[in-house]
Amino acid sequence: MKILITGGAGFIGSNLCEHFVNKGHDVVCLDNLSTGFMHNIEHLISHFPSHFHFIHGDIRDLDTCREAVKGCEVVLQEAALGSVPRSINDPITTNATNISGFLNMLVAARDEGVKRFVYAASSSTYGDSKELPKIEHNIGRPLSPYAITKFVNELYANVFTALYGIETIGLRYFNVFGRRQDPNGAYAAVIPLWVKALINHQSPFINGDGSYSRDFTYIDNVIQANELAATVPHDVIVKQAENYNMNLPQNAPLDLVFNVAYGGNTTLNELFRCLRDNLAKYDPEIAKIEPTYRDNRAGDIPHSQASIIKAQRILGYNPKFSALQGFEQACEWYYQNLK
Ligand SMILES: NC(=O)c1ccc[n+]([C@@H]2O[C@H](COP(=O)([O-])OP(=O)(O)OC[C@H]3O[C@@H](n4cnc5c(N)ncnc54)[C@H](O)[C@@H]3O)[C@@H](O)[C@H]2O)c1
Repeated sequence: MKILITGGAGFIGSNLCEHFVNKGHDVVCLDNLSTGFMHNIEHLISHFPSHFHFIHGDIRDLDTCREAVKGCEVVLQEAALGSVPRSINDPITTNATNISGFLNMLVAARDEGVKRFVYAASSSTYGDSKELPKIEHNIGRPLSPYAITKFVNELYANVFTALYGIETIGLRYFNVFGRRQDPNGAYAAVIPLWVKALINHQSPFINGDGSYSRDFTYIDNVIQANELAATVPHDVIVKQAENYNMNLPQNAPLDLVFNVAYGGNTTLNELFRCLRDNLAKYDPEIAKIEPTYRDNRAGDIPHSQASIIKAQRILGYNPKFSALQGFEQACEWYYQNLK
């Protein structure tokens, strides 16, 4: 297959590039390097000169999208500005990238005759819904500009499938973590941020009393979900979706959007202890570090946990890494790469 991976120099995108090029596919990576890095993909450029092609460009430019998608059968649309706080500080840029850029990619993919368009959706779409575990057809009201953009992506994808026939599959990621997730900058995610602090013998901040919980999802589970979404034949998906939808309420939408998670929950206090214990194996001094508690962050929901039944039934998703197994892998990688 020839696959376009947008945002391919970022955390999730670079892991996807590596996976698909290692499996023998031709990969085009489109990225503007706003939050991604050349060092995430340099090894692919040098090892796979004829199967990996990097385009430094922006999805906000339709011509760039058209150029990048030429000859591709599948698009994995990862390019976006992540982070809820970033979108609260700068909703205009988040909207331009995550909605206008996304729409450009959909139009370019449609016009090129791309067979399947798989895109990074988000657990933030559950908004203020208190239901646990989160089930795809039951969402609440969005709590941030970022959440709005990710929901609009789903709406656009569904409309493009209905109007133009392009196959679209949305993967609602839940707190993804693992190798190459950036520990630096104002909008760094909690795991790399805390790991970096611990490695530097600093006390990480916990927002609130540490009882909030998340369904932390190791990157290899996300890779598996993307591989399935890109390759499971359309007729199989349709058949399984019909079976799955028979059990849904009558007004539930029939869209192909899936939670991608492990289906567990880890509190922030548990997360802290796990990261500390894992890193203390390499540096016993780390075992002495205690966290610093501070106020809850506005807009954070107390608990997030996914039902992964839909992805299991329709795509055959079967995540191999629990959060605990993932924390161990991630700590080992960060210790080797940050130290
Ligand atoms: N990491 C998570 O926990 C998580 C959770 C839910 C959804 N997501 C989604 O997954 C996708 C990947 O996220 P990530 O964590 O790897 O973030 P990331 O910031 O590491 O990767 C995003 C990549 O997109 C690129 N990009 C941004 N704007 C662009 C533009 N205008 N044109 C071209 N490239 C652009 C960045 O340079 C970066 O390489 C995003 O769509 C994000 O919203 C991530």
